[in-house]
Amino acid sequence: MRFVDIIEKKRDGKPLSTEEIQFFITNYTNGTIPDYQVSALLMVIYFQGMTSKECADLTQAMMLSGDTVDLSSIKGIKVDKHSTGGVGDTTTLVLAPLVAALGVPVAKMSGRGLGHTGGTTDKFESIPGFKIELDKQDFINQVNQKGVAVIGQSGNLTPADKKLYSLRDVTGSVNSIPLIASSIMSKKLAAGADAIVLDVKTGDGALMKDMADSEKLAHEMVNIGNQIGRRTMAIISDMSQPLGFAIGNALEIKEAIDTLKGQGPADLTELVLTLGSQMVVLANKAKTLDEAREKLQTAIKDGQAITKFKTMIAAQGGDSSIVDHPEKLANAPYQIELPALQSGYVAKIVADQIGIAAMQLGAGRATKEDIIDPAVGIVLHKKVGDKVTKGESLLTIHANTDKLEVIKQKLYDNIIIGDSAKQPQLIYKVITE
Ligand code: URA
Ligand code: CA
Repeated sequence: MRFVDIIEKKRDGKPLSTEEIQFFITNYTNGTIPDYQVSALLMVIYFQGMTSKECADLTQAMMLSGDTVDLSSIKGIKVDKHSTGGVGDTTTLVLAPLVAALGVPVAKMSGRGLGHTGGTTDKFESIPGFKIELDKQDFINQVNQKGVAVIGQSGNLTPADKKLYSLRDVTGSVNSIPLIASSIMSKKLAAGADAIVLDVKTGDGALMKDMADSEKLAHEMVNIGNQIGRRTMAIISDMSQPLGFAIGNALEIKEAIDTLKGQGPADLTELVLTLGSQMVVLANKAKTLDEAREKLQTAIKDGQAITKFKTMIAAQGGDSSIVDHPEKLANAPYQIELPALQSGYVAKIVADQIGIAAMQLGAGRATKEDIIDPAVGIVLHKKVGDKVTKGESLLTIHANTDKLEVIKQKLYDNIIIGDSAKQPQLIYKVITE
């Protein structure tokens, strides 16, 4: 096989065979095919798209390009959840212990974040002592004994995706739905879950800014998962404003604790119950979504959920007393309010810009080398649709400096107050095939 023939075939709009896709991935991963040829193919895919069979073949080839995680020694149906990423997305911190409290085994690998705030592992690391690096056997033992473990990515998972992603990043081919779908799904499938629930975000703060693209991405990923034999479903949820109130690592741990105790923000709580119900049904721990939701609500009310969080923290070496004493988490030296400059209704809180402000405070990384400050971030007091009076605080900035003029201006520029506003819908669609 010659790679140039594969490029030309795809250029002319013909779908690639399973063998051709395997040839591409195997020989790109081992360094036989050069970047310049792959750049050309990626650009051709960007313009020609891929059939869902090609997407599934590409995903499978990437999944098998490195190690895969074998979770078969964990009892029960392992259900994973993945979010396409947003601002202040505290969902996994709540979901992992919550569904585990109902007996759904949670064996989760999470990435570090690049962008607005840390990834889930960075957030957990803001708990004093919490270790996200467990070896494989300890990881599996912990899930079997405690029902839940969340660790950082280890081993050589999907090297093809790492290489391709870096190349796409510098050749203008990141924004291709088939390439995004196969990139995300190859990593999820390599991580070993039996079933997958996807939270595809839509809006300013999301990878996909408009609804039509979000839907296409969701359908493509659900197709891929189901074709490869793992039950997969997706919801499309709002990311036009940050999720919940907190954006920042320790601040989101506090928000997760509140939510697990039944005192969390309404949108975060609703999203967690929606995703959690799907996970519980996929894991066969309830027959219907309504039954699952009721069980989840009970686990929050009677304290099983927060108890499971303590168990998980202690099992991973963390200080579980932070659950009852969140003030023990890192606190920023400066806590500064942002008063509203006029009265009215909050019409818009531009998610990605608020996320960038949190990153500039030190809550996220602009480059891989940046070090996260766990204490800093933003806590919103108003959300879209809320009434506000001039002088009332819109949010609290948690900072390690009081030189905040530039950030304050950015926040003012991106919180729009109008004469009337309505709450955005939180969950737009559920996609099961
Ligand atoms: N996230 C991924 O993991 N892959 C993409 O291609 C885009 C976003
Ligand atoms: Ca949040």
